[in-house]
Amino acid sequence: MSAATFSPLVVWHDVECGGYRADLPLWRELAAAEAEPVLDVGAGTGRVALDLARAGHDVTALDREPELLDELGRRASGLPVDTVVADASDFSLPRRFGLVIVPMQTVQLLPSRTRFLAAAGAHLLPRGLLAAAITGALEDFGELEDELLPDPDVGAAAGWRFESQPTAVRALPAATRIERVRRSIAPDGRVTEEDDATELAHLTVAQLEAEGRTAGFVPEPARLIAATTEHVGAEVVLLRA
Ligand SMILES: C[S@@+](CC[C@H](N)C(=O)[O-])C[C@H]1O[C@@H](n2cnc3c(N)ncnc32)[C@H](O)[C@@H]1O
Repeated sequence: MSAATFSPLVVWHDVECGGYRADLPLWRELAAAEAEPVLDVGAGTGRVALDLARAGHDVTALDREPELLDELGRRASGLPVDTVVADASDFSLPRRFGLVIVPMQTVQLLPSRTRFLAAAGAHLLPRGLLAAAITGALEDFGELEDELLPDPDVGAAAGWRFESQPTAVRALPAATRIERVRRSIAPDGRVTEEDDATELAHLTVAQLEAEGRTAGFVPEPARLIAATTEHVGAEVVLLRA
């Protein structure tokens, strides 16, 4: 396999998100308790959507990246998952959902939470539930000293190895910027590196609940997802339609 046959979007998405499992029990619990179907917002290659579909739920996976959803569709192989390429802040689907989930801080990536909350509310069945995982402001470590560097997220395919190494966590006025070096190691040992950065908008449970109230939701007690050695913890804000 040559580097050209990789979808970099899929590779790095899987390396950086694919190994996270600590949130799955909560999404399973909510999907079992709420009405069908489920809408997974920012579904990526389907880490959560496919897990819920395997448990027998009727899932629609929405993401703005067609390449990620193509891969999700390939992995679904017969499972009941629809895919929709759309922006989470501006979508219109013919179905209504009993549960809309937004795993892995995706709500903190959205340019307009106001528009997202309006779109999610418009797609929920009466008494449906919106559940969004968020992480409060992370400590500003600046450039991480070598001894503070966490282990890289890693992946492998066809003799290639991929490492994504967090290198800095910076508190900006409105967001936390997480910087990484993405390293690809070819089968012949050749190494290429590229920089990447993600900005997570600062957001607290109280703030998202207040925004939810303004959008017509009724907040229910938020749930916790414990930190693991590899991942920060999260709070899951629950907003009832
Ligand atoms: C942190 S990943 C989470 C992926 C997946 N939900 C998981 O938990 O493994 C964020 C996902 O949100 C998608 N995304 C980011 N901004 C988006 C937007 N405005 N509309 C739709 N999807 C978006 C990205 O393409 C990516 O797949």
